[in-house]
Amino acid sequence: MILQRSRSFLFTISIGAILIVFVSIRTGLLTVEARTNTFKKWEDLTTNEALERVRQQNLHGYQYAAPEETFYENELSERDRDLLAKLAKGSTARDKRTQTIERLYTLDSEDAWNRHIEDLDDEGLPPLTKFTQRYIYEHQHPESCKDKKFIVMESFPNDESFGLGAIVFSISMNLNLALRFNRILIFNPKNGPGRHFIDPSSHELCGNSMECFFEKLSSCSMDDLTPENHILLPARSEIDQDIMNTPAGALPQIFGIALKRMYPMITPDTLKYWWRGQSISYIMRFNARTMAELLRKRRDPALHKALFFDGDDIVDSSTVPFPMPAGSVSMHVRHGDKGIEMELKNFQEYVDAAEEFISQNPVGFKKIAFVSTENPDVFEQAKEHLQKEHEMYKVVDAKARTTSDWSWTWYWSEIPRANIGPEQQLETFGNRTDMTINWFLQLMMAIECDMMIGTRGSGWSRMLDNLRCGWLGKCQQPFLDVGDVQDWVFYGI
Ligand SMILES: *[C@@H]1O[C@H](CO)[C@@H](O)[C@H](O)[C@H]1NC(C)=O
Repeated sequence: MILQRSRSFLFTISIGAILIVFVSIRTGLLTVEARTNTFKKWEDLTTNEALERVRQQNLHGYQYAAPEETFYENELSERDRDLLAKLAKGSTARDKRTQTIERLYTLDSEDAWNRHIEDLDDEGLPPLTKFTQRYIYEHQHPESCKDKKFIVMESFPNDESFGLGAIVFSISMNLNLALRFNRILIFNPKNGPGRHFIDPSSHELCGNSMECFFEKLSSCSMDDLTPENHILLPARSEIDQDIMNTPAGALPQIFGIALKRMYPMITPDTLKYWWRGQSISYIMRFNARTMAELLRKRRDPALHKALFFDGDDIVDSSTVPFPMPAGSVSMHVRHGDKGIEMELKNFQEYVDAAEEFISQNPVGFKKIAFVSTENPDVFEQAKEHLQKEHEMYKVVDAKARTTSDWSWTWYWSEIPRANIGPEQQLETFGNRTDMTINWFLQLMMAIECDMMIGTRGSGWSRMLDNLRCGWLGKCQQPFLDVGDVQDWVFYGI
């Protein structure tokens, strides 16, 4: 009995042992399988893993990586050397992209603006741009200002809290009202919206409205007003219900109808985005004085900074190409006071987004960026990133090889900056007019670039996108939004 029991006990144990061995072999096998089957994405690898991956790939016959060659001119045929010499001579001929950007900087009248827009290639423009720009211009420039009705825009009660983006998008709202209700929109030149952008020292020269910087909205003026033919906005007294009840995000009916004929399923927010673009492309046409100042600043080396790695050292210079090269990237890093409204994104997120995109489009886009921001720390981070690339160069070269260039070329402007809101900055930096023109310079340099990275929660980013479309026909170029995808729909104004 005892013997039998102990035997069956031993039997149970040995079955158990076999099971344990079996199970452990299974799980062992499973672990080995798991290890070989989980293929880590390249960007998730550590430096050592990346090196190991490259070693493995070479072992297994992936020998097709391009060599880093040195090219010898003296090995070329005479004919080829001749061709090269001709090519170098021809390189001063301006391509169409360069010509268009240079032309933008020289516009000095409303006529010049109209011709500029008409000459742009349709394929890069938002739909109906030429039609819309002509329509707005003609509406605002009637043969006679007699018998017309007007909307006069004055400064907002809290004008100081409006950044440039908020100002121009508010004017866009009122331009819709003007077109919808057959009125002509003009600024009160003595007390217009955005008056805090104009330095008191400029009042005599250019008044106290955005017309200090922009072409006049209309050929009509305050002289054409009678008590009956105009209303003031923001409204000081009761005005037409029709006007009061028009939603902020609405657009003139004629354009809504025309666009819906072309795109029956177009969403209301896309219509609004389109209208914001068309209206500010008209509103913000810089006048001759502003444009001359922008071109002067653009050419002034003292105002620019370049930082790049030349293969040996990190080079610090003040030479920024004009225009920004084809395939370059504009990064607008919105920090400052914007944290009240939205989550601020780290500079690294902009860089990651850019590198991922450029890796996938290495011939069309380059690691060349114009960086604009109110936060001076961003440039420190740009330097650190370049330092890291310098250290990585040739160590894990495979990691850098997938993008257009080994390392970034950073450009930015040497203008006063502080990580605070726009009004505080204007207060801090002295001459408001001059500071505002510095910001417009940031705008111009950003739209010279081809790709754009920003957050559409920022009015400035939307403004850049709208103007590169309307002024330079760059609407087919990518915009990478590092913010929440909903940001572009639920932005204010
Ligand atoms: C401020 O800047 C504007 C534009 O550059 C200039 O016309 C004006 O004279 C400046 N004011 C002073 C006080 O320097």
